[in-house]
Amino acid sequence: MILDVHTHYVPRGWPDLGWPGAPRLRVDSEREAMILVDSREFRKIQDNCWSADVRLAEMAADGVDAQVVSPTPVFFGYERPAEQAVRVAKIFNDLALEICTDDRLIPFCQVPLQDPDLACAELDRCLEQGHRGVEIGNHVGDRDLDDDGVVQFLQHCAATGTPVFVHPWDMESSPRLNRWMAQWLVGMPAETHLSILSMILGGVFDRVPPSLKVCFAHGGGSFAFWLGRFENAWHRRNDLVGVSEFPPSHYLDRFSVDSVVFDERALRLLVDTMGEERVMLGSDYPYPLGESPVGGLIRSAAFLSDEARARILGGNAAVFLGKK
Ligand code: CO
Repeated sequence: MILDVHTHYVPRGWPDLGWPGAPRLRVDSEREAMILVDSREFRKIQDNCWSADVRLAEMAADGVDAQVVSPTPVFFGYERPAEQAVRVAKIFNDLALEICTDDRLIPFCQVPLQDPDLACAELDRCLEQGHRGVEIGNHVGDRDLDDDGVVQFLQHCAATGTPVFVHPWDMESSPRLNRWMAQWLVGMPAETHLSILSMILGGVFDRVPPSLKVCFAHGGGSFAFWLGRFENAWHRRNDLVGVSEFPPSHYLDRFSVDSVVFDERALRLLVDTMGEERVMLGSDYPYPLGESPVGGLIRSAAFLSDEARARILGGNAAVFLGKK
């Protein structure tokens, strides 16, 4: 079973809500559309974002048996009034179920994370309707994942056995980061790194039960490469950094990361750091910074045993999703 835990969709029927700053979809043809933020062209997308048939055909070509289908983060709406974000989430989540009628497409919902009660309620509604997990952004404005409201939501996920996929979004903007896709190439890995730090140092892993299933996108960003720096700082500058009960390396068995790192040396570091039980195939399909063909790196990585390869390609994800 080859299972891709990191893919995105955009529903073709996304309505224009008429709210300033809300993403809109301009459908240019049967096969192409443009995501617009205000009047700015944000990203050109194709029918593999919304067509189950196209997705299933491309999965078959890449030898992928199933994929988790998550929202595209620009549509989260965490910066909007909560009641607007609920409306966005409901439309998005209901349209996702129209795309994911085949068992091979596993829908993850989005929630209005700025309001924990509404987020828990939307998650419950979605789980009842057929969603299998939730994708959350890695921060809500200036609040990181150790925010009390976010932790309340994560505790609810743990209580309901809901897998959580954390995706970076809403990267810092500045003249230096707005060139060369630097928000994606530098900002996203740093955002994800910061999220893992916030869950460790913010005591989230001390507060939520070990049953919480959480996976970070893009190999956990720059976290694995800099774990040693983090560990050293925790011991040497404990006056500033030592707010978690244990040193950072203690918490590595509390979360997973996906595999979309493009380089065998990086994958080896991830598997060495996280363990072969905590790396899962992810591709970022169908976007241009995703892996194509999906799973190519894991399949070709010479250092992996057959058993480890099978786990990373699908066995770990089956556990994450609670599949038999
Ligand atoms: Co992604």
